[in-house]
Amino acid sequence: MIQDDETELLLRARAVRENAHAPYSGFRVGAAIRGCSGRIFVGCNVENASYPQGTCAEAGALSAMVAAGDRRVGAVAVIADGDIPVPPCGGCRQKLMEFGAGDVVVTMAALNGEISRMTLAELLPGAFGAANLSVTGT
Ligand code: THU
Repeated sequence: MIQDDETELLLRARAVRENAHAPYSGFRVGAAIRGCSGRIFVGCNVENASYPQGTCAEAGALSAMVAAGDRRVGAVAVIADGDIPVPPCGGCRQKLMEFGAGDVVVTMAALNGEISRMTLAELLPGAFGAANLSVTGT
């Protein structure tokens, strides 16, 4: 059932958030991705004293998916603290789009239980993708 699938993703994202390494921002994020095989992959943000080296939760979950052999994103859930559901950052929208169709639903959640949903196409309209690279240039 779709609702149960989403609940499972959110629970996995909430659980992995506990492992986040976010001593600099104090903003812990958890992400869960259901690959098209049905398996779930999770990731949390991993910050670094050299700030730009930190990685987002979604990037970690995507890496786990690809390393496990799945190549398509079926659904995504992201959760963080704060009053409003956390949206993926711009870079993560692009990363998710690499492996997901525009109609993939991203469920964004706050720890207080608030939830919002958007598709990847809504999150990243006019996305740059592989098709753009096939244009022949000079
Ligand atoms: N962060 C994520 O993990 N995912 C997002 O989509 C938004 C931002 C992390 C990065 C950084 O560790 C912290 O949240 C504050 O920006």
